Amino acid sequence: SRILVLISGGGTNLQAIIDACTNDNFPGEVVAVVSNKADAYGLTRAQNAGITNLALSHKEFSSREDYDQALIKIIDGFAVDLIVLAGFMRILTPSFVQHFQGKLLNIHPSLLPKYQGLNTHQRAIDAGDDVHGVSVHFVTEELDGGPVILQAKVPVFEGDSSEDLAARVHQQEHRIYPLVVKWFTEQRLNMQGDHAILDGNIL
Ligand code: GRF
Repeated sequence: SRILVLISGGGTNLQAIIDACTNDNFPGEVVAVVSNKADAYGLTRAQNAGITNLALSHKEFSSREDYDQALIKIIDGFAVDLIVLAGFMRILTPSFVQHFQGKLLNIHPSLLPKYQGLNTHQRAIDAGDDVHGVSVHFVTEELDGGPVILQAKVPVFEGDSSEDLAARVHQQEHRIYPLVVKWFTEQRLNMQGDHAILDGNIL
């Protein structure tokens, strides 16, 4: 399968997926990386791995709709089977989501449906949670609301800063995101209506 990864930042999840794809029994390949920020370190990671990469700055566009239409054109040019959002810090328009329905994965650093949106680690600490985590889900028009595919939990320890907790969550991200991408490329995973389906079972 041909995979395109969308990023805005450091790209540690991108790296984990690139690394996983080098494995012989991984039937997928990252063919392009697109960032909305030209200085995203993830673009350097792509470059280092010999992967086509480019920045499309949202600042060059007057509306979200125009930006997303330009992004659709670029992505369609790569004829990919799967689009992986890995720290892509933009809300996507309904027309973008509909265009790639069932082919869009996202990772969100909380145990969805808890803590949709930003600052999830601090919010978990402030709420006094003793368990936090991360979710990989299909993207639908509802922000951080699509069907969950896989979650991993981490403990919250007393005195944790949001950085401590983020680091713990990141380790789990790097474990579960490549796994879900592998399932998709093995054609074991799809979205039907509002459900994520793995090997014929509703998750
Ligand atoms: C991750 O925490 C992910 O859950 C969130 O953005 C962050 C991206 O990190 N959506 P990285 O750029 O992959 O290191």
